[in-house]
Parts: sequence; structure tokens; C-alpha cells
Amino acid sequence: MKHFTSVKQLGNLEEAFAKARYVKENPFADQELGRNKTLLMIFFNNSLRTRLSTQKAAMNLGMNVIVLDVNQGAWKLETERGVIMNGDKSEHLLEAIPVMGSYCDIIGVRSFARFESREDDYNEVILNQFIQYSGRPVFSMEAATRHPLQTFADMITIEEYRKKERPKVVMTWAPHPKALPQAVPNSFAEGMNLTGFDFVITHPKGYELDPDFTAGARIEYDQDKALEGADFVYAKNWAAYSGENYGKVLSTDRSWTVSREKMALTNDAYFMHCLPVRRNMIVTDEVIESPRSIVIPEAANRVVSAQTVLKEILLSL
Ligand code: CP
Repeated sequence: MKHFTSVKQLGNLEEAFAKARYVKENPFADQELGRNKTLLMIFFNNSLRTRLSTQKAAMNLGMNVIVLDVNQGAWKLETERGVIMNGDKSEHLLEAIPVMGSYCDIIGVRSFARFESREDDYNEVILNQFIQYSGRPVFSMEAATRHPLQTFADMITIEEYRKKERPKVVMTWAPHPKALPQAVPNSFAEGMNLTGFDFVITHPKGYELDPDFTAGARIEYDQDKALEGADFVYAKNWAAYSGENYGKVLSTDRSWTVSREKMALTNDAYFMHCLPVRRNMIVTDEVIESPRSIVIPEAANRVVSAQTVLKEILLSL
């Protein structure tokens, strides 16, 4: 594996899950693999889980880790080519990227959608510049359109908890006061469409995601109907994708909040969310604290997904 930007690059899923199980059961078995190798983690946006879990994964593999928060302590970076740099940005990404590449062996990048241009976001302009100019293997720690380490952790978690061959997995939109990117739902849809599970997406009209990610899933606008018989409920907010509404909040309707009444429609489903989560907007206290909530093991599996991917990249160096 050279770069990792989508769960599609996991290849055969059975093999990927077997590798993840090995990593989980033997976290320190590959300490020599990362010896004298350096991971550079670049954050254009905030993080708790990705930062800690990826760092822990790299340490389990014996790697050295450098973390850079681009917006705190580094020179302010220009990202557009052709700009006359007479403003507040002191350095261009096109110099910064190869310099960063010269200090490490592998680069992880977090760079969210900016909602300024759907074209730029969906062309993954920042992530692709790292791939093009760093000279290093690059992996996504959540980019504009996908969050593959999160999705791989979600898939590992479902694999651990599912009781049937083909569970019903429902991804439901839920309200949030701010405009959030589509990276997690896009990526989750992409992952679920690889599994052959009964996968349903439910959201209010106007929140349709890019069909490049959702094609193959059933879309149901009636949340109650979608939740009937679900084995897993995956809650997430996202801002609108379509047309001139791109990046907008169209609804904060709390009748879409995942509550005890909503979960009662399911087949005693497990509740999942990538975190951070806004309680009593996305999900009630009661549901997230219930025994069917698996958000903590889901987050813990972020170490497993990151370590499995990092190990594959190290093996390819
Ligand atoms: N789920 C996730 O990526 O969490 P962080 O934003 O805290 O990294």
C-alpha cells in the first residue's frame, strides 16, 4: 500500500479484517518494523481521536512521531497557486510540502472540506498536493470527502458485533447547529457498499449525498421506516451536498435526534457514532449511555485501523 485515502484501497475485506484482528491481538509484534522510521502527522483541523489513536498506532509499530498543527505555531500557508503573496500568508504549501517530506518517511494529513468551492473540496486539492509533492506515502486522517481510518474502524467494529451474515445497517442524518463535512457519511457509505450488508441511508430531503459514494444503498426519507429492524444505527450529521445549497445547514429538526423511541423501532440495534457527538442534538443521553451504545469500542478500534494501515505502508517502503 503506497497511499491510503479510501477504504477501497483495503483490497480483499476478509484479509483486511484478518490483518486487523492480528494487530489487535498482537499490538507490539511489529515493533521492529517502524524502527528509525518517522511519521509526520499534519493537522489543518482539530482532532482528539485521530491524533491520539494514530500516534499510539505508530508507537506500537516502533515509529517516531512528529505532529504539526498547521494553524498553531507554523507559518500561515497559502494553498492557491498564482496568488500574489502580499497578505498574511508567509509560506506556500508547494514549498512546505516537500520540506515536510524531507523530515519523515510517511505523512498523515487532516484537511477538511472548506465549503468555499465544492469542486476544490471534491477534487481533494490539499490531500492530492501532499501526494504529488511530498515524495512520501500519504494517508488521510480525514480529508474533504472521506475519512477512511474512521470507516475502517467502523467496519472492524461491526464485524466484531454482528450476529448475522447480512445485518441491516442504517446511517441516519441527525441535527447539528453547524455545517459539517460529508467526509464521514461518504466514507461510511463507501465502506458499507463494499460489504454486501443491507445498508439504508435516511435523511431529510435536500441532504442527498454524492451518488459516487452512496450508489448501491437504499435511500429512505422516512427515518422511522428506515430504522425498522435495524441491527446497527450509525448516526451522523452532514451539511447539504447538492447544488447551490452545498455546505449549508438546511434543517436542525430535533425530531431526527436518535432517541429511546427511535431505537425501539430497531432490532435492539447497536448505536454507533464516530465522535465527537453533540448530545441531545444527534443522540439523547439515554441512548449514548445505554448498553447498546458501542461508541467507545468503536473509537478504541481507531488504533487498530490506523496500525493495520500504517503497517501495510511500512511493509511497502
Ligand atoms: N472521529 C474522529 O475523527 O475524531 P477526531 O475528530 O477527534 O479525530
